[in-house]
Amino acid sequence: MAREKIHYVCQECGYKAYKWMGYCPDCRGWNSMQEKTSAKSGGASTRLPGEAVAIQSLDQITSSGEQRMFTGLNELDRVLGGGAVPGSVILVGGDPGIGKSTLLLQAAVGMAARGCRVLYVTGEESLQQVKMRAERLGNTRVPLDVLAETDYDRIAEQLDHTNPAVVILDSIQTVQKSELGGVPGSVVQVREVTASLLQLAKGSQIVFFIVGHVTKEGTIAGPRLLEHMVDCVLYFEGDRYQSFRVLRGVKNRFGSTNEMGVFTMESRGLVEVANPSAYFLSQKPLDVPGSVVVPVLEGTRPLLVEVQCLATPSYSGGNPRRTVTGLDFNRVALIIAVLEKKIGLQLHNCDIFVNVVGGVRVMEPAVDLGVAISMVSSFRDKPVLSETLVFGEVGLTGEVRPVAKVEERMREGLKMGFMRCILPGSNRGSNSGSVPKGLELYEVSSLVQALKIGIR
Ligand code: TYD
Ligand code: MG
Repeated sequence: MAREKIHYVCQECGYKAYKWMGYCPDCRGWNSMQEKTSAKSGGASTRLPGEAVAIQSLDQITSSGEQRMFTGLNELDRVLGGGAVPGSVILVGGDPGIGKSTLLLQAAVGMAARGCRVLYVTGEESLQQVKMRAERLGNTRVPLDVLAETDYDRIAEQLDHTNPAVVILDSIQTVQKSELGGVPGSVVQVREVTASLLQLAKGSQIVFFIVGHVTKEGTIAGPRLLEHMVDCVLYFEGDRYQSFRVLRGVKNRFGSTNEMGVFTMESRGLVEVANPSAYFLSQKPLDVPGSVVVPVLEGTRPLLVEVQCLATPSYSGGNPRRTVTGLDFNRVALIIAVLEKKIGLQLHNCDIFVNVVGGVRVMEPAVDLGVAISMVSSFRDKPVLSETLVFGEVGLTGEVRPVAKVEERMREGLKMGFMRCILPGSNRGSNSGSVPKGLELYEVSSLVQALKIGIR
């Protein structure tokens, strides 16, 4: 008989310890450790069914080729790296009410309409509610199987009967394995259900889309472990009070994680935004201080976003406010420091607010120069040169450093009617042959030079 071993698992973050503690050293939660027993030789097997135990040479392993399954939503396919890979488990996370169920129901309908057998398992809504949502989306005439069930074994049984190619599980926090005990959504339940789904997916080539709710802290509820287990993690984000939604890849074993899908939530479901640049710039004010347009690259696609900055005298005394939305706070702090030191701007007694319009998050350094110019523009209360694109990385000595994919950025700007472009000078050599015609280029090597040209 297998020996039983006692351990303690944190119900907040999944941290495992071999002695009881009142305090979790990982997530710092109090009273969250719970006793668990496990058979020493048992536990979930990490080996997948059908997987050989013997060592094989890489060149002798037969590849199944990459056959992607299209969801009918181009933006979703793009984030998945060109469609879903059979046998993969895809986790879709997001705040409650952001539109995860809507997105996956639309994808399910899209796949069913293409002749793919899809099973939509709902643990949160009744069959009637799913039907009402499908009616709202305007498509109920597709052969989509729907199951309202939360017991894992019964779901697995149905999979055996129906043999679907795609399963949508809404949500992972509602499904439970009765033999494990504990409430659905607890760390142990979520982890074990996901482990079983992974085995099932690899063995049967079913694609699983699973919905995971996001906690207050912004991670998918249950253990962080869940993100390590699945093949893809997508986050569906946006401001609930605005219609704009972004689907972002956080992890993808079969593609890039930089891709981003853009949607708007309308009264009849999610609508794909084919030209996000136009969408983001649609409300850009003309010639006002503090506003700059930056071409950023999200995955393979360039995107024009508006960066806004407001620098106002601070009356808080001591610590001025720094509020950054949509950008890396530390990079903005760095830019403020460079502007103080190299340009001599007195920003230490200003409250500074920086924002990327439309709820987009930009993490690439190419946005630096745009942030710097918008900040100086707001500080001096002078608008930026009109119809001008700005990009480049700013270094600690105030130099402007080259960035990648210059040509794509410029082409996107031209497409949207921009006339001028302030860019790193050192990019010239590598791109001189491919400069799109019609754009007036201002190549700069330092922040000082960029500010002289960029601010009127
Ligand atoms: P939902 O998909 O239920 O969110 P989640 O599964 O992430 O919790 O979407 C909920 C919101 O979306 C709801 O507040 C209403 C809105 N919505 C629309 O605006 N249009 C629609 O066609 C649908 C189906 C929902
Ligand atoms: Mg939902």
